[in-house]
Amino acid sequence: MIKPGFAYIFEGNEGCGKTTVINNLAKKLRNSGYDVVVTREPGGSELAEKIRNIIMNEDSDSSVQLMLFLAARLDHYNKVILPAIHENKIVLIDRFIDSTLVYQGMLKDEAVNIRMIYKFNQIYFGGLFPGCVKKCIYLRLNDVTEGLNRIRKNRRETNKFDNQSIEIHKKIQQSYDKLYHENFNTDKVRVIVNASQDIEDVMYDVLKVMQEV
Ligand code: TYD
Repeated sequence: MIKPGFAYIFEGNEGCGKTTVINNLAKKLRNSGYDVVVTREPGGSELAEKIRNIIMNEDSDSSVQLMLFLAARLDHYNKVILPAIHENKIVLIDRFIDSTLVYQGMLKDEAVNIRMIYKFNQIYFGGLFPGCVKKCIYLRLNDVTEGLNRIRKNRRETNKFDNQSIEIHKKIQQSYDKLYHENFNTDKVRVIVNASQDIEDVMYDVLKVMQEV
């Protein structure tokens, strides 16, 4: 039994399989009678998708980029996530707060950005995560190159975040690893699932995590 009226977030490196897992999950849950909303960041609402275009296509300094991600998040949260939660739906989100902490904060040790993210979350969400977030599931690859090869193989359109050096992708993974280490996660909202397994096993583990009360 998965609790409706909550959001479940999926995080991880490029090509870790978030989109596949989310789409499979949505299908499975809908077949079981759940009302499911699938959404993503940056984007997810009309205005946030416009901001996504700016983020993806314009160069700006990292703090300006952070503001754009946060503005997009607030609109997405107010216009799409919260209304779906109030309608007792299950909301599956492709990336959320932890992506911002990793990419705009920990990746380049940007302490000011990290402070800003925590402040923003405190003001708008009343804590690190809004109360509607039940689980953040980090789909962790044994090796980041698996994900990059997957993107190449599927010929998915790449963006400026995908086309970074392997060292950057490794640092992204190290940052997620740090964030999802048990020391940070006494409330058990953040959970790691091994994304290098067969998709059936990944799905099994994800569903198990989502069923934990
Ligand atoms: P996207 O094409 O959605 O890729 P993915 O399938 O990997 O999620 O691109 C989103 C990119 O934006 C991704 O590389 C991570 C980055 N990002 C941030 O840098 N900060 C954020 O707060 C979010 C939500 C995403």
